[in-house]
Amino acid sequence: MSLLQTDFADAAPAPACVMVIFGAGGDLTSRKLIPALFHLCAAHLLPDSFAMLGLDRLDLDDARFRERIASDIARHVGPAFDAAVWERLEQRLHYMQIDMLAGADYEHLCQRLTRIDADRATEGNYLFYLAIPPSLFGRVTEHLGTIGLLHQTEDDWRRVIIEKPFGRDAESAAQLNRELHRNLDESQIYRIDHYLGKETVQNIMVFRFANGFIEPLWNRHHIDHVQITVAESVGVEHRGAYYEEAGALRDMIPNHLLVLLGFLAMEPPNSFEAEAMRGEVNKVLDAIQPLTPEQVLTNAVRGQYGAGVMPTGERVQAYRTSSGVAANSQTETFAALKLTMDNWRWAGVPFYLRTGKRLTAQYTEVAIQFKRAPTIMFKNTDVGELNPDMLLLRIQPNEGIQMSFSAKLPGPTMRLGQVNMDFCYEDYFGNKPATGYETLIYDCMKGDATLYKHADTVEKGWEIVQSVLDVWSALPPRDFPNYAAGTWGPAAAGQLTRNDGRSWRRIETPTAHGGLRGGNASGGRGGGCTPCG
Ligand code: BG6
Repeated sequence: MSLLQTDFADAAPAPACVMVIFGAGGDLTSRKLIPALFHLCAAHLLPDSFAMLGLDRLDLDDARFRERIASDIARHVGPAFDAAVWERLEQRLHYMQIDMLAGADYEHLCQRLTRIDADRATEGNYLFYLAIPPSLFGRVTEHLGTIGLLHQTEDDWRRVIIEKPFGRDAESAAQLNRELHRNLDESQIYRIDHYLGKETVQNIMVFRFANGFIEPLWNRHHIDHVQITVAESVGVEHRGAYYEEAGALRDMIPNHLLVLLGFLAMEPPNSFEAEAMRGEVNKVLDAIQPLTPEQVLTNAVRGQYGAGVMPTGERVQAYRTSSGVAANSQTETFAALKLTMDNWRWAGVPFYLRTGKRLTAQYTEVAIQFKRAPTIMFKNTDVGELNPDMLLLRIQPNEGIQMSFSAKLPGPTMRLGQVNMDFCYEDYFGNKPATGYETLIYDCMKGDATLYKHADTVEKGWEIVQSVLDVWSALPPRDFPNYAAGTWGPAAAGQLTRNDGRSWRRIETPTAHGGLRGGNASGGRGGGCTPCG
């Protein structure tokens, strides 16, 4: 029995339904969606009355579509692959060729779904997954609406999953929401931010609210500041054309980094219900102070990588030489912000956010630095200034939680060192086979939108960064490229924390056995973290 099966031992299968994937010939379908269905099938969470209908332009029939998926399913599923599970899943996969922009094809879709309903007893419940470019969301939902496929009755449901980008600024995000709302009620729209599918992100809430000792410390009286780092050592790979339009800020901050910030800063919701949870996250976003144009100049930093050498020794080319990228590109591949909140819990506590491509390490973490203890007790000793304690939430890789604090060094005199208490997910829960989409798809089938984004959350995220987008587009950068691949980003990012007498936590390169070594923020002595595994 796989760990996934163990974890879901008590969970009931999802209700009968057809999952209709627009863009079934694409990468997302073969790399993530079908493997996620495989894991759900292995865990007996797909109902007997389940079917998947893939839609795309390719001229395939059911048999050829199944062959196509079968050719690399084992690779995408990895060691958890089990031929018997695949056999169960494969016979539920169907395919239909479609021109997504042609109204007439939606009549064929209707007929095909009616047949599947009859053959598979799927009860008229349809989950439409739009694995297609966002520019098509409006037109596809318009066609689905016109033909009646989005109309729900008391006996059946119709839901639509879409994935980011949800617009490229506050105005286009609002416009996209308006287009979707023309044919869908908000309760039918499931907006995926794949960070919400990560176990370690969900665990932020559990860590905070299921443990009595944390909450009393979780406020401006005890926390000095918070650092959120989503560092990537990879470049833009084959997505140069998309990235050139997006840049690091749009690609990561209003969505993934604000998901982390929302969970870190929210008040305890009354329940895990979607409305309660999303309401609390929205209050956090409302409390974040948008930067004025003057503040953008000091509290926001952008960078673009030039050629460099990664810690592994690999030499990499500058961003401007990537395919799909202009030779004089002004797009940022690094962004850092200092944000503050105006509410009772967090007033005066800065949240420093940074993300970038081709940085030294592939690493996502939240570092919470506590205020220093008063030193009076140590006044006649060799102990100088006390180190601040730090809590580290390692989101990925080496998923875990680490607390670092001061301890007495053994010996006759009073000297202190920094030590770590470390929890590693893998030690307790093993290495679970999952794509991150399993819970999200299962939740949508059950109608649970807790881990999906509401229209308001998306728009508020854009509003927070809008002034940065405005100032950056009005003042094109003059120093790009301003950091070498394989480093921690532009010098100005260091200045962002130094201006406040602080420093980014040092995250160092992977060690030979795959762990990471890092250091305390604020230049504390010692403080290496214990690598996992
Ligand atoms: C995506 C971005 O949303 O998230 C990518 O478009 C980025 O540029 C990716 O690489 C990061 O996701 P993860 O799960 O690898 O941290």
